[in-house]
Amino acid sequence: MDEMNKKILINSALDAQELSYSPYSKFKVGAAVLLKDGVIVQGANIENASYGLTMCGERNAVFHAYCLGYKKDDIVAIAISSCSNPPASPCGACRQVLVELVNGDVPVYLVNTDGVEDVILVKELLPKGFSGDVL
Ligand code: THU
Repeated sequence: MDEMNKKILINSALDAQELSYSPYSKFKVGAAVLLKDGVIVQGANIENASYGLTMCGERNAVFHAYCLGYKKDDIVAIAISSCSNPPASPCGACRQVLVELVNGDVPVYLVNTDGVEDVILVKELLPKGFSGDVL
């Protein structure tokens, strides 16, 4: 992926923080998924008074892509943004979901509102994780 597309994707994830519904934690997470056809879809964390029902930003972004009809092979890159430093990294539940719905070589950019940027590949997220292969 070229630098310009990466920048656009990261800015989209930063913008998506504004979609966050996080009255309890006040921790806004934005995420963006770049698709093969150039479309970018966003997601944000959506909380609930019954805290465990909260849905994370990156899962919402990937689910959003699937709900629009995109599939695993359509996903080129993901960015996740928050205000924490170092930038927030996906929780365990998100890692399990990303590993199933996104190809292993896809980069996940972890960014924050101060411009700090890190990257991890999907295949590095969950070593020896559980998968449908054993079912
Ligand atoms: N959160 C995410 O959106 N993604 C993660 O990977 C970790 C945590 C959200 C959930 C909750 O709304 C807030 O961050 C604080 O945990």
